Parts: sequence; C-alpha cells; structure tokens
Amino acid sequence: MSKSLDTSTTEAEQTVTEVIDGIVETTPDVRRAVADHRGQSNSVNPSGDDQLAADLRADELFEQRLLGIDGVATYASEERAEVKATDGRLHVAMDPLDGSSNLEPNSGMGTIFGVYSERPPTVGTNLLAAGFVIYGPITSMVVARKGGVSEYILEDGDKRMVDDDVTVPDDPTVFGFGGGIDSWTDEFAAYAEEIRHELKLRYGGAMVADINQILTYGGVFSYPELESRPEGKLRLQFEGQPMAYILESAGGRSSNGEQSLLEVEPDELHERTPLYLGNDDLIDRLESNID
Ligand code: AHG
Ligand code: MN
Ligand code: MN
Ligand code: MN
Repeated sequence: MSKSLDTSTTEAEQTVTEVIDGIVETTPDVRRAVADHRGQSNSVNPSGDDQLAADLRADELFEQRLLGIDGVATYASEERAEVKATDGRLHVAMDPLDGSSNLEPNSGMGTIFGVYSERPPTVGTNLLAAGFVIYGPITSMVVARKGGVSEYILEDGDKRMVDDDVTVPDDPTVFGFGGGIDSWTDEFAAYAEEIRHELKLRYGGAMVADINQILTYGGVFSYPELESRPEGKLRLQFEGQPMAYILESAGGRSSNGEQSLLEVEPDELHERTPLYLGNDDLIDRLESNID
C-alpha cells in the first residue's frame, strides 16, 4: 500500500529545496551551452514546435542533475514525449529553455519549472513550488513556494536573495500580448484595444522576461486563444501552471479565459492552453470580455 504523500512533510520540503538548488547549480552550464548551441536541431518537440540544439542540451543538463536527487521520482519536459521515472516522491516538470527563439538575436530567455506532488499530467493545485530563471544581463531566479515569492541573483552556481516578498504592484502599467493582432479573436482584439490606451506595451517574446515585467511593473500578459488555434500556443504543464502558481502567490491572478489555470484538469502532458496572467482586475475584465 503506497503511503499517502504528506507533501507538507519536511522530507518533501527538503526535496523542493534540493530541486531549486540543483537548478541554480546547473545554470552556469546552461548559459555556456546556449552560447555554443545557437543552431537548429532539425527535430520538433512533442507539441510540434521546432527544437533548437540549445533546447535539447539544456534539457539534458537539467534531467541529469535533477533525476540525481533522491526525492525526485520523475522528470518531464516540453522537449520530450515521455516522463522519465526513477525512485522518489516528487515530480519535476520543466521548460528547460523558454524563449529559445530569442537566442539568435541574443534577447531574453530562461528556464521555467514546477515541482508537483503527483506525476504530470496533473492539475496545477498539485504544485508545491514553481519558478523561473532569466539568463539576462543578470542571471536571476524567481521562486514561489509556501505562499510567498522570492527573487534571487545567481552567480557561479550559487544564489543570493534580493527580494523576499515579490508582489504584483497594485497600479498596473504594462501589457504584453502574443499571437499578433491579425490572429486574435474579435473579443480579445476588443480587450486589447481598451488595454493599449491604459498600459504601455512591453513584449519581448520570452514568457519568463515578459512575466517578470508583470511582477515588476504590474499589468497583464497573455498568449490568447487565436482564430486559427483556439488552444493558444503555451503549454499548460510546463509554462501555464508554473507561471499561474507564481502570479497567484504574488497576489495576481491567472486564467484560461474561464478559470484559474491551476484548476484546469489536463488531458495530456503536452496540451496547450490560452493564458492570461496579471493584476486581478485586468483578468476579471478579460474574462467578462471573452465569452
Ligand atoms: P519556448 O521557447 O519554450 O518554445 O517558449 C516560447 C514561447 C514563450 O516564451 C513566449 O511567450 C512565446 O513563445 C512567444 O511566442 P511568439 O514568438 O509567437 O511571440
Ligand atoms: Mn520551444
Ligand atoms: Mn516556453
Ligand atoms: Mn522551451
């Protein structure tokens, strides 16, 4: 009889800490890898996106490091079809390199992760922690766990905390919407038309950097449903749920147009979802626009 998983145990918390530190220790190798792997890989990932050599190399580096942690039972990533299993209790899901199309112009990129109490695909309320790294002018990390959000600066595989209470500012000032105006539904285009007169456009094409702007300045980020792809572009397990956990832990909101991204019951590991993240009143208005 498998013992029921009491995820509040110190053992589970210890594993979460080891996963976070394992990711921190891997980031210098990832930074070096992206510099040496700027080409295509001639393969596509399970959700159908082209894979860069850097996507695959970052995925290998994180898988090796994180599956080596005793308390980690599985490793799942947007770059691989199957979940990799070993002994352990907690489950790591990663977008090993987010915004990798920005590698060519050397613009913002990062890593997104979630630590789940159940094997993915699983609902976002099973998250115990989530976070992201930005390989920017500074290598920084945002971590949400136990209801709080902290920011760290990463140097040489170590982290030092620079903010122990990251919260979405009450007065929103920026927005970033993916997909492009010609692809939006009429409802989203109408919402965007309202928002663009109230907030400043800041969109860099890497979710980690665009979300970090929402945490810094307040506002709304969306990769919405599109006329041609009602499911949107971004992946629920690897991007949507971890970022929703972070935003909601920081006092903001998440939505797929109808409900919190943390409450969506996933059908499959690589499913995509429309996503809207930011200040609660901006998300409320969006949900009343999108029927
Ligand atoms: P990834 O590089 O992991 O595939 O993610 C890219 C995603 C996300 O980071 C970003 O918000 C979005 O793609 C940008 O899409 P467009 O380039 O279509 O704007
Ligand atoms: Mn990709
Ligand atoms: Mn991504
Ligand atoms: Mn990616």
